[in-house]
Amino acid sequence: MIELMRPIRTRLMPMNEKIERIRKRAKEFALDECSHDFSHTERVLKLCERIGKSAGANMDVLMVAALLHDAGLREELEHKKDHAICGAEIAEAILREEGFDEDFIEKVSYAIRVHRYGKGVVPTTIEAKVLQDADRLDAMGAIGIARAFADKRSKRIYDPAEKPQSYDPFAERSVLTHIKEKLLKLKDSLHTDEARKIAEERHRFLEIFVEELESELKGLK
Ligand SMILES: [Fe+2]
Repeated sequence: MIELMRPIRTRLMPMNEKIERIRKRAKEFALDECSHDFSHTERVLKLCERIGKSAGANMDVLMVAALLHDAGLREELEHKKDHAICGAEIAEAILREEGFDEDFIEKVSYAIRVHRYGKGVVPTTIEAKVLQDADRLDAMGAIGIARAFADKRSKRIYDPAEKPQSYDPFAERSVLTHIKEKLLKLKDSLHTDEARKIAEERHRFLEIFVEELESELKGLK
């Protein structure tokens, strides 16, 4: 009975209180590791706030989608399922329990379902575009490099035998190849003007890092 009453009670709450409840629930799904812990979600949320306003996004939908966008990651790491699909399903279940209306849930679910870079989906909603941009920006610049090395799936710094190919999220690649296959391509996949502005310096930093690393590896420095 208490569970049945919860959606009705939460439906009447102000949106900022609802979002705080979602933040707490999202934290329960965060991984305990450097690359995809809850600090990644918080940075994506901040970037969404910065980009979303100028892009004219529905900020409530966007903030909830940002908080829950990686809720499916554990399923991907443990069972090789697509974290965007699992995340969208988890978000739908949470938001129904929390009494959000179906239209809101569908918008959040869509943004999460299409956020993954490897799928190459160009979203049809502005909230989904901003979420993709924010998530991609957090994989660029100094933080992007730090996250790439911290990622549990990273086994080697570089591998001279590897040649960059098209990006496969499930392929085992050295960090240097991963930067070339994915991180250096992110700049050209962004949708919003504000994200493109933020990306300029971050992209340049990635290029400088790769140039430096390769000169050191070749013994030129
Ligand atoms: Fe993410």
